[in-house]
Amino acid sequence: MRILVLGKSGQLAQSLVGFAPTQVELTVWGREELDLSNLEEIVPRLLAHAPDGVINASAYTAVDRAEQDADAAYRLNRDAVKQLGLAAAQMGCPLVHVSTDFVFDGNQSRPYQPGDACSPLGIYGASKREGESLLQQVCPAAAIVRTAWVYRAGSNNFMSTMLRLMAGRDELGVVADQVGAPTSSDNLAQVLWRVLERRLSGIWHYSDAGAASWYDFACAIYEESRQQHVIERDVVIRPLKTEQYPTPAVRPAYSVLDSSALRDAINWPAIHWQQALREQIHQLSSPH
Ligand SMILES: NC(=O)c1ccc[n+]([C@@H]2O[C@H](COP(=O)([O-])OP(=O)(O)OC[C@H]3O[C@@H](n4cnc5c(N)ncnc54)[C@H](OP(=O)(O)O)[C@@H]3O)[C@@H](O)[C@H]2O)c1
Repeated sequence: MRILVLGKSGQLAQSLVGFAPTQVELTVWGREELDLSNLEEIVPRLLAHAPDGVINASAYTAVDRAEQDADAAYRLNRDAVKQLGLAAAQMGCPLVHVSTDFVFDGNQSRPYQPGDACSPLGIYGASKREGESLLQQVCPAAAIVRTAWVYRAGSNNFMSTMLRLMAGRDELGVVADQVGAPTSSDNLAQVLWRVLERRLSGIWHYSDAGAASWYDFACAIYEESRQQHVIERDVVIRPLKTEQYPTPAVRPAYSVLDSSALRDAINWPAIHWQQALREQIHQLSSPH
């Protein structure tokens, strides 16, 4: 199996490389190999490479910057995704694409099912939603896996930002009224490999189990890091309301995803986010 992964420098692509099944002959492309904003290059480059499967882990992921940079966000998250779908459909090869909890407005109080109505609040979520819709039109066999709050030891994400702040500050405030599910990039990567292997199609949800606010997540990062001696100093973490931490993009207040259908389809256990966090912090305390 010759599999092409897109998004080389990103955290998810790095996890996909780390967890690639042994029988897979892997090629990983980043911006240098194929700049996905050059839309007209996508189909010919993929047809020339002729992979047996594609996992798209690339995206315009700067949620706040997207509000001022909508053209670039739509180009990557909608238009490039359509081109990937066209290429996969022509080749008849499976395509696994990754989307986001930000397609929802967060007004629900129970975990979101894949079929729940989408109503994104910002440009990032809207561009990802339009990418999903176009992909389903041009390549109905594609699998779309929505995920949330992705992090990985050693990459840039909420966890690494918290650890950097905790290393230098005695006190920090973190938003406590936005609830989601922190998701280990390593767990997500293993799930995506199974989705590809089983040739799933349609929209699915995956996040690690449980729910947390950003404040809960920050407190758990701190406690785990103290226990595993990644942080050796006292830091006070205070809960903030969203109004106290304004950002250019509005984020859903509640975006927990119901992953049960996908877990059943691929026979994957419910891994609580706190357990996954412990494993990621462990990688920082004993790097190999
Ligand atoms: N991170 C989260 O919390 C989160 C939550 C929900 C869903 N997701 C989704 O999960 C997927 C993976 O996210 P991630 O966290 O791994 O993102 P990431 O770390 O920001 O990686 C995104 C990747 O896309 C690449 N990319 C951006 N513009 C490109 C272009 N024009 N041409 C080629 N490559 C380009 C980036 O390359 P450069 O480094 O060169 O820019 C980077 O390698 C995305 O679909 C994202 O929307 C993420």
